[in-house]
Amino acid sequence: MDSILVRGGKPLSGQIPIAGAKNACLALMPATLLSDEPLTLTNAPRLSDIKTMSTLLQSLGAEVSSLQGGKVIAMSSHSLNGDRADYDIVRKMRASNLVLGPLLARLGEAVVSLPGGCAIGARPMDIHIDALTALGAEIELKDGYLHAKTSGGLKGGRVALRFASVGATENTLMVATLAKGTTVIENAAREPEIVDLAECLTKMGARIEGAGESRIEIEGVDSLHGATHSVVTDRIELGTFMLAPVIAGGEVECLGGRLGLVSAFAEKLAEAGVEITETAAGLKVRRNGEIPRAVDVVTEVYPGFPTDLQAQMMAMLCTARGTSVLEERIFENRFMHAPELVRMGADIEVHGGTATVRGVDRLRGAPVMATDLRASVSLILAGLAAEGETRVNRVYHLDRGYEFIEQKLGAVGADIERVREE
Ligand code: EPZ
Repeated sequence: MDSILVRGGKPLSGQIPIAGAKNACLALMPATLLSDEPLTLTNAPRLSDIKTMSTLLQSLGAEVSSLQGGKVIAMSSHSLNGDRADYDIVRKMRASNLVLGPLLARLGEAVVSLPGGCAIGARPMDIHIDALTALGAEIELKDGYLHAKTSGGLKGGRVALRFASVGATENTLMVATLAKGTTVIENAAREPEIVDLAECLTKMGARIEGAGESRIEIEGVDSLHGATHSVVTDRIELGTFMLAPVIAGGEVECLGGRLGLVSAFAEKLAEAGVEITETAAGLKVRRNGEIPRAVDVVTEVYPGFPTDLQAQMMAMLCTARGTSVLEERIFENRFMHAPELVRMGADIEVHGGTATVRGVDRLRGAPVMATDLRASVSLILAGLAAEGETRVNRVYHLDRGYEFIEQKLGAVGADIERVREE
């Protein structure tokens, strides 16, 4: 398994290009199942999760071609020959559950493995099941698989999500585009990835009002046609790289970044004393000489502070001036980066869903273990400022969500390299 070595203490300077959003692309790709005409995605990120989704779609009979080094994904689901998402794929990537809705809408049936737990939490599917059932699906759990079918056909209806689940909103949205009649989703997730999916589905002929708000109304249509869609910029990669100059010092311009994608996060950075300037090309971030101030963080559904940036923010707060309290309200176990940061000299106390971080002068490099995608990148960020060498092991977690991370950080002056191990 590869590891990444970071030698800290070098301020950063230059530009980092931000890729298309992993979490948008993982919802956009299953949308190809809704139509027998080609769907092409541009500005796609080059990530292992995208390859996993491609493999899953191909296993269902879809044609998926990766063009221009992976930046373009050309798909066609003209002839599907399967309706099953196997456990060995779904357990590796929970987003595989996003084929449930499209398969049900297109074929009238689907067999999708329950994802099982993952490092950050149990991650059940109850909200997906309740929502699709409200639209005419009959779903039962057998041998660890969700067996979904619709004998009477999918009908529009009112779906009130008990929690604004991103995935459940996406599955429901995709089913509703082909259900008979009108669907209203209440308490829908409002993430930019939902808006991006709705924009793509609209290009395919869907009739959707209110994506990005808590109430989305969808008028079902008989069929969807092909389209070409550019994946929205990845706000989590953006927020991650905005923190790099804050932690390491210097100034970095994140190309393609827009404040609107990261407003709650940017407000917190401004509160910590970080200077953020929106330029024609993106977002310029610099630590204006001062050590950042400690700030408190509570993760919320969008437009609140994103849970996917909590670990990265904690890495920055380890050397901020003062004490910060971080409350994780979305997942039940998303502080696994904390003990690894403590190995680097951070002063962090975790009690349940709350972590208290007391700023220290400097972190010290150490061998640390990546446990999940965002925890991994928080350790890389911490290594940028730590004295000496940090070795992050099991970086396959990292490769799921960050393309070419050592090249992107190396290009702005970080001393970072990948060590390939058999
Ligand atoms: C999406 O996961 C993202 N993944 C996650 O990003 C992100 O952390 C999460 O949304 C929250 O923003 C993709 O988009 C591929 P949820 P998703 O359904 O859809 C509970 C990353 O690092 N829940 O909004 O699975 C669930 O257990 C990943 O890129 C139920 O209880 O998230 C969790 O506690 C990690 N029942 C909370 O809701 C359900 O049926 C949020 O889950 C569904 C969810």
